[in-house]
Amino acid sequence: MISVLQLYAASPLRNFSYLIYSDRNGEAVCIDPYDAKQIITALKKHGLKLKSILNTHEHPDHVHGNLELKEETKSIVFAHPNARGKVPGMDETLKESGVYFENEGDSLVAWETPGHTECHFCFVLKSEKHIHSVFSGDTLFNAGVGNCTRGGNPSLLYHTVKNRFYSLEDKVILYPGHDYWENNLNFSESIEPTNHNITNVRSIVESKVKDTEFLISDFGMEKKINPFFRLNEESVRSSERLNQEKNLSEEELFIKLRKLRDNW
Ligand SMILES: [Fe+2]
Repeated sequence: MISVLQLYAASPLRNFSYLIYSDRNGEAVCIDPYDAKQIITALKKHGLKLKSILNTHEHPDHVHGNLELKEETKSIVFAHPNARGKVPGMDETLKESGVYFENEGDSLVAWETPGHTECHFCFVLKSEKHIHSVFSGDTLFNAGVGNCTRGGNPSLLYHTVKNRFYSLEDKVILYPGHDYWENNLNFSESIEPTNHNITNVRSIVESKVKDTEFLISDFGMEKKINPFFRLNEESVRSSERLNQEKNLSEEELFIKLRKLRDNW
């Protein structure tokens, strides 16, 4: 069985790092190490041996712990081929559909997902028949998507989100690169003030112990609250914030929402 450990660094950007490991032999990989000391402590506590560091993309807050963690664990750093020179300690390149961890029929597969930057991969934990979870870096967040202001492209992001994520089953779990629940729910509510699912999810988020407990969403929940997954909902299309621009294409609406969120 493959297990997932979510590690949180509050400062400065509410980053999540992930350890994905085998209960059988203790081998592990780390996605986007931020606080190397925190990760090393977790590896020791759970008796894990780190084999690889997988970076979703080249931004400093996703590669921050690379060198210290690599030095301590002698693990191999993988990143997008075009991120070479920007990712500290990079050894190997990620490839579309490449498998970067395997255990008892489950595997961790890389999906190339340009948009937030042009060098972005997400990682998908799956069995032969089902996708269990998505580690989305800065492509998808709870109730939102990544910005495109530092090397990204909103049209590319739209096509990535549409082609890769719109059709995923409701039970697939989303593990994003940051905890942006609060801001994103506020934005969602500004687009759809009458969507009670947003109010309900906000009350769950507010019931969590701040900076300690986190609501983990699935794609079923995202489809109810994330405006970027709701481009054909009348309540989104008729939103006052969109100035009655009802005839926008899906892509135009996605880009318009992204622009509104940039200025939120
Ligand atoms: Fe980023």
